[in-house]
Amino acid sequence: MNVIGDVPALRTLARAARGRGDTIGFVPTMGALHEGHLSLVRRARQDCGFVVVSIFVNPLQFAPGEDFSRYPRQPEEDEKALAATGADLLYRPDEKSFYPPDFSTAVEVGGVSEGGEGAVRPGHFRGVATVVTKLFLEVAPDAAYFGRKDLQQVAVVGRLIQDLDFPIRLVVCDTIRDPDGLALSSRNAYLSAFERKLAVSLPRALFGARARAAGGERDPATLERQTRIELERAGLAVDYVEVVDCESMRRPQRIGPGVALAAAIRLGKTRLIDNVLLLDE
Ligand code: PAJ
Repeated sequence: MNVIGDVPALRTLARAARGRGDTIGFVPTMGALHEGHLSLVRRARQDCGFVVVSIFVNPLQFAPGEDFSRYPRQPEEDEKALAATGADLLYRPDEKSFYPPDFSTAVEVGGVSEGGEGAVRPGHFRGVATVVTKLFLEVAPDAAYFGRKDLQQVAVVGRLIQDLDFPIRLVVCDTIRDPDGLALSSRNAYLSAFERKLAVSLPRALFGARARAAGGERDPATLERQTRIELERAGLAVDYVEVVDCESMRRPQRIGPGVALAAAIRLGKTRLIDNVLLLDE
């Protein structure tokens, strides 16, 4: 596995891969890699001849006062895990060359970025869309791999690809969970042992709603209300609980295919998000 930090070297290696007839699969990450990230790398490995993974903790998508400075960073472990998973190229730009002091461009995706996380974290999806656009232009992949765990991010990237005509196939991968149901997240590292136990109430409440949908419940408001009550009873501070159409991120009239229940909670200083599709696809 090659490890590089600069765009010219990245372009040279990607061009060489393409010259050999390989398709390029790309997995953007912020590092502190876990099995969720690695599942994307494995999927890219299955589909593509050349797999590029980026690690960059993107300051633009953190608001002042969020966890940018304490976001977990473990470059050696990440590099080992990626080599073992079969990535071909690790792209790890440094912040100063990625965003020089006179960097002045932003990419704003309207509509899908406005509710949910976008409402609670103003500017977050502008930061995500800007970094993803820059990375897409640098790597020029044939396919990009994203986790459904970040449901709204998938919708934002989907719009970005369509609106700007990126010739990139978006591959959405299922959420990988701990055995008790908690979705893997780099931020789980912030949880104390006590908080980690409480955190399981988040997936439990979401899967409870999924079971009610399987039992015939079709009203978004009812599912949202019951889930919120369950989360609050478990002692979690709820930022939002929303039934959304996965593509438009709008609230549907009734539960149907492609509809998910998404929630964000706060547990001490840690903020966790999760979602489930309400019906089997
Ligand atoms: P990060 O949080 O590091 O996540 C990188 C990718 O891994 C995202 O597509 C995310 O959805 C996926 N992922 C995280 N946890 C997962 C899990 N438990 N199961 C499956 N996939 C999971 O998302 C970002 O970084 C950034 O916003 C980024 C897109 C890199 C732009 O900076």
